[in-house]
Amino acid sequence: MSAFITFEGPEGSGKTTILQAVADKLQKRFDIVMTREPGGVKTGEQIRELLLDGEAMDERTEALLFAASRREHLVGKVIPALENGKIVLCDRYIDSSLAYQGYARGIGVPEVKAINEFAIDNMYPDLTIYLDVSVEVGRQRIIQNQRTQNRLDLEGVNFHEKVVEGYKKIIHNEAERFIIIDAEKSIEAVVEDTYNSIIKYLEKL
Ligand SMILES: Nc1ncnc2c1ncn2[C@@H]1O[C@H](COP(=O)(O)OP(=O)(O)OP(=O)(O)O)[C@@H](O)[C@H]1O
Ligand SMILES: [Mg+2]
Repeated sequence: MSAFITFEGPEGSGKTTILQAVADKLQKRFDIVMTREPGGVKTGEQIRELLLDGEAMDERTEALLFAASRREHLVGKVIPALENGKIVLCDRYIDSSLAYQGYARGIGVPEVKAINEFAIDNMYPDLTIYLDVSVEVGRQRIIQNQRTQNRLDLEGVNFHEKVVEGYKKIIHNEAERFIIIDAEKSIEAVVEDTYNSIIKYLEKL
């Protein structure tokens, strides 16, 4: 049995924390591969370096680079794992590009979707966990933990508001693929809710 499950949500929603904890629990019953783009795939890493540490760049160039890095990771890591019967849990995927580049940066969701659909070539996730937190809660968590900030974190509150708004629209248009988790609950409660949702999905396969 294989399944491709992605985790989405704004900064500080708990994607990395929850994915790790849920993977630990799932590992007892399933073959799990945890990953995030570019996920150790060399060309994907090199493309990604330009995005996170480089100078400001044209927004369409940025969107194309994310899509290119995504494809390298998909082909180099996700698809081989799925072919080996793994459950792949991936920290951010196409919906992040739609929400950030498409909606928040204003390139347009249909435009960013077009280049990403070219990149993923029908490999949509089977299931997407959306960790639902307000912009305020997400940002507060990041500030409290003083995590190293990358270029995207330095955007203003308005940008983050738009990211959340963008996600909501994307979910609205493709509701069947998403499970929305109230991620303002305690870490333990969010892990439990996410784990139960994934188990319920996998048991139906
Ligand atoms: N439900 C929760 N309640 C309280 N704190 C939480 C919760 N979930 C995560 N955190 C804390 O919030 C901080 C951010 O979490 P995390 O790094 O997992 O978010 P993220 O969604 O991966 O963010 P980013 O998009 O920036 O990678 C961490 O310090 C984490 O411990
Ligand atoms: Mg993270």
